[in-house]
Amino acid sequence: MRQFIQDIAEKNHNQITRLLQILRAIQSRYHYVPQDAIEQLAGLLHVPRTRIISVVEFYSFFHLTPRGRYELLISDSITDHMLGKKDLSDYLAHKLNVAVGEVREDGQVSLDNTSCIGLCDQGSAGLVNGYPLTRLDRPRIDCIVDLINQQKPLNEWPSELFQVNDNLIKFGLLLNHTIVPGEALKETFKRGLQETLAEINQSGLRGRGGAGYSTGLKWHLCYEGSQADAFGDVDAQKQPQRYVICNADEGEPGTFKDRVLLNRYAHQVLEGMTICAAIIGATQGFLYLRGEYLFLYDKLQTILDERRQAGLLGNNIMGQGLDFDIEIHLGAGAYICGEESALIESLEGNPGIPRNRPPYPVTHGYLGKPTVVNNVETFLAAAAIAVRGGEWFANVGTEKSKGTKILSISGDCLHPGIYEYPFGTTILSIVKDCGASDVMGIQVGGPSGTFVSNREFDRKMAFEDLATGGSFIIFNNSRNILDIVNNFTHFFAHESCGFCTPCRVGTSLLKKQLDKIIEGYGSAGDVVALVELCQLIKSHSHCGLGQTATNPVLTTLERYPELYQSRLKEISYEPGFDLDGALETARRLARRNDAGAHLAQVEEAL
Ligand SMILES: Cc1cc2nc3c(=O)[nH]c(=O)nc-3n(C[C@H](O)[C@H](O)[C@H](O)COP(=O)(O)O)c2cc1C
Ligand code: SF4
Repeated sequence: MRQFIQDIAEKNHNQITRLLQILRAIQSRYHYVPQDAIEQLAGLLHVPRTRIISVVEFYSFFHLTPRGRYELLISDSITDHMLGKKDLSDYLAHKLNVAVGEVREDGQVSLDNTSCIGLCDQGSAGLVNGYPLTRLDRPRIDCIVDLINQQKPLNEWPSELFQVNDNLIKFGLLLNHTIVPGEALKETFKRGLQETLAEINQSGLRGRGGAGYSTGLKWHLCYEGSQADAFGDVDAQKQPQRYVICNADEGEPGTFKDRVLLNRYAHQVLEGMTICAAIIGATQGFLYLRGEYLFLYDKLQTILDERRQAGLLGNNIMGQGLDFDIEIHLGAGAYICGEESALIESLEGNPGIPRNRPPYPVTHGYLGKPTVVNNVETFLAAAAIAVRGGEWFANVGTEKSKGTKILSISGDCLHPGIYEYPFGTTILSIVKDCGASDVMGIQVGGPSGTFVSNREFDRKMAFEDLATGGSFIIFNNSRNILDIVNNFTHFFAHESCGFCTPCRVGTSLLKKQLDKIIEGYGSAGDVVALVELCQLIKSHSHCGLGQTATNPVLTTLERYPELYQSRLKEISYEPGFDLDGALETARRLARRNDAGAHLAQVEEAL
């Protein structure tokens, strides 16, 4: 083992920033991260062993005790559940003779759940040693069990088991007008860097990762911020190094468009990053690829090599004096690492805990240097705009939402997959296109977004109305809303990074309170307590995860109060339950300002 650890550390230049990549290699080889490996790494990387342990403990793909030689993880997304996940995973556990969450006695196989793996269009899905297993059903599971019992290496398993389809269904402005490698860079150099930034500004492009910040402004601030010393830190002026990061963490349940964009249009995404580098003056870029997309890693490395050979990456790109290269960093199973400052922490070899902001990454990002973080789709769009101009893009969409949005549609519809729509498209026309019928409602923007009932289908997909990072999960009338809310609430409690009390304790309490009501043990007072807790988590959490974790409860309680009411047990001494009154009290209570003290009491009681 000593030699392996030394080699892997050397391959990563003994850099702490490569810690996740080193730990991934160790986990993959030994099926856990042994204490001896931690000791040795601490010496090689010159960091305390506790720092390495904190990273191993933070990421769900690393373990301090051995997992099976075949490590099976089954996706826990609501769409997997809708496709029979529970029965399938019980069947798998039975056939393999191993309980969920356990390692089989002979050490050959372990089985566990994992948060949505980005394959909602072809579930039920899972991972074996990090590689995707799609469209699981009983015959496929029988085959997998046989292969494991025969101890067949993964490269001898039938390739159909691992087949991931793109399911590209509706092409719009961007997907219809892709570029050839080098085309956008050529136009950028021909037009001029500042002139190209002006086109990006004119296009009105806003970030596609969810928050919708102006892309042109972000690039401008990164360039200017490091020149103008926005936070009084003279160091920023002395250190012109800047970074470009592509956020391919795509952890929001129900989102899988970045997976397809990277599989089909990687050149264009990487070109968008390179244009950004030229404009802001960066020499180094990172593609932060979620660990669940390991299957894309080799292909993306090949494309990076092709680009280097074609003079589109590396030194003196296209003979224009631009030096820029891109490294791929794989994540290790943590939804919070999609949040840009947590992502940067992760890239630096730390647990992915969101930073205090301001300062923002544009001035103090990776290693404290000015950094642009953009979503995969944002870079794809930027490259297209560099070729076709800002007006071409701005002519489509609405006043505040220019261009198109690429959606990942899944759930109860005939054609799950990737659809591109101009902003301003109604929910009704999207529902019609994907072959959905008898629809009860749609979760727009994933669990952190909004539940839209079938009474609201005239609403529009746009920043002015329904903003979305791209997740669009359809539910028909056979579905139980409380099961959906329960799944989402458990997801947030599981993915809370634990840094701040309102989210760490609050999401866990929320889960318990909801379970109590759903299981029929709640009274009217419990709904009041539920709302009070939601308000408290929403208003006191440190980052976007906690601030949106209560959306599933709040948006469904608002639309379907009778559903919650129907689960309450009847208490004879509670005369005439008035939910509106209870909610009003809750709203009033939620505004009190002693939330911190209340949570401290709660935490003590736990
Ligand atoms: C909990 C959480 C998870 C996030 N996950 C992602 C993600 O997977 N991909 C992404 O691009 N942005 C994600 N974001 C938004 C990023 O913080 C950031 O706003 C985005 O990457 C900026 O790129 P854009 O301007 O191109 O949208 C997440 C934010 C939060 C709070
Ligand atoms: S809100 Fe949740 S995820 Fe965000 S920092 Fe606090 S504990 Fe971590």
